[in-house]
Amino acid sequence: PDWSFFRESLLKWYRADRRPMPWKAIDNPYHIWLSEIILQQTRVAQGLPYFERFVAAFPTVNELAAAEDDVVMKLWEGLGYYSRARNLLKAARMVAFEFGGEFPDTYAGLLKLPGVGPYTAAAIASFAFDRQVAVLDGNVFRILSRYTNDSTPIDTGKGKKHYQMLVDDALGDTSAKRFNQAIMDFGALVCTPKKALCESCPMAARCAAYRVATVYERPLKEKK
Ligand code: ADE
Repeated sequence: PDWSFFRESLLKWYRADRRPMPWKAIDNPYHIWLSEIILQQTRVAQGLPYFERFVAAFPTVNELAAAEDDVVMKLWEGLGYYSRARNLLKAARMVAFEFGGEFPDTYAGLLKLPGVGPYTAAAIASFAFDRQVAVLDGNVFRILSRYTNDSTPIDTGKGKKHYQMLVDDALGDTSAKRFNQAIMDFGALVCTPKKALCESCPMAARCAAYRVATVYERPLKEKK
């Protein structure tokens, strides 16, 4: 696959940032962590007002850490997956009381926070600390499996390793911070699960799935 074409097309598309979001402009690790936890199982449009309310109620991680459990659970109401809210508080208290109010600034350090898995650690490490790590989320699986017309199932350990290698190749030495944000927005706006905008996609000319009309058969899963 032609990864330099891929990343250049992606970053050129992204230059006209199509989705301004309040946590993109600032490098505040607390805001970035909070937004990523809220967005784990929630769409951007639904999550945004919650993000705003949390930041207004708790401007810093120390203030969130000091909050009563019920107050936080109440603010979370409507978002579902309440284990996220419980882990949110646990992580805030860990940062406030064990790390002096500073978020860990590496991928490995971030992974130790409750509620932070590989995707979220990579997102925070790149967005907040400019670390060179690529995110592997649903958008990445979909976009890369289409671009390369790859039929490796994504829901196996082997598949995840395979796609991690692909995304590392795709990233190259462009800034992970920009690349990760660009690929998420591209997956939300162009290379969508259904009704993808292939006609106006800047990568269509070299998209292997588009060439052979398997766009909607990618990515492949082992379990149906
Ligand atoms: N979903 C989760 N994190 C996101 C981000 N930073 N931008 C867009 N969508 C997201």
